[in-house]
Amino acid sequence: MSRVALVTGGSRGIGAAISVALRDAGYLVAANYAGNDAAATKFAEETGIKTYKWDVADYEASKAGMAQVEADLGPIEIIVANAGITRDAPFHKMTPEQWHQVINTNLTGVFNTIHPNWTGMRERKFGRVVVISSINGQKGQFAQVNYAATKAGDLGIVKSLAQEGARFGITANAICPGYIGTDMVMAVPEKVREAIIGQIPAGRLGRPEEIARVVAFLASDESEFINGSTIAANGAQFCS
Ligand code: CAA
Repeated sequence: MSRVALVTGGSRGIGAAISVALRDAGYLVAANYAGNDAAATKFAEETGIKTYKWDVADYEASKAGMAQVEADLGPIEIIVANAGITRDAPFHKMTPEQWHQVINTNLTGVFNTIHPNWTGMRERKFGRVVVISSINGQKGQFAQVNYAATKAGDLGIVKSLAQEGARFGITANAICPGYIGTDMVMAVPEKVREAIIGQIPAGRLGRPEEIARVVAFLASDESEFINGSTIAANGAQFCS
């Protein structure tokens, strides 16, 4: 029986590449999305991957959405907490609303995605949790006090979960992508983006598939001893 994998934010950007890579690796994939119905429909038509709509910032909605995934496909054994947003502003201009939106989606959303599945994974003695953090959680970033805080928080989550889950066959790891050529990065003003690319020794943005490949590796049954790790994929922009 194929294992079931959930990818939050799984119909666009890095998440879409992860969903496809896991499907190609033989998993039954559920791709969650929050709002963009048109993109989700197109993604489902093109890939045959089922999409599910809920807001990861809402615990009850997450619980209900994942119960539907389980009813359709079976227990969720691989969780890829990928959904994330930016609300960039220099700190003196950042509003409490921008702070809370990013915390609620990027950090509380990770809790909301993992927590309802944790007891089941413990009982089944198997689980793979992969959280998509960011280079900016490792190094900080001008205009991203909110985002960097959540992405650094992801590292605390996986390091703690790894210690709790290891004896139950559960692993929790983080991937820190650098700047990848997705809508999120393309939304950065062009001049700023060009300056960022100038700081990447590889001389280019990353590709979503380069992150997806790491997820497929961490999701596999054979990766059990890799637990609590932070894997950077950033073209040598920041070597931690
Ligand atoms: N480092 C140092 N200074 C910077 C800077 C940086 N990275 N970016 C902007 N500044 C400076 C500007 O030069 C400008 O300086 P002056 O006032 O002397 O002209 C000042 O900061 C900008 O001030 P503004 O009041 O004009 O800023 P703003 O309110 O218009 O905000 C911004 C502009 C939101 C900061 C915009 O520049 C921006 O979006 N920057 C990109 C931030 C970024 O890298 N986000 C990452 C998004 S991708 C992602 O998050 C994915 C991932 O995980 C990697």
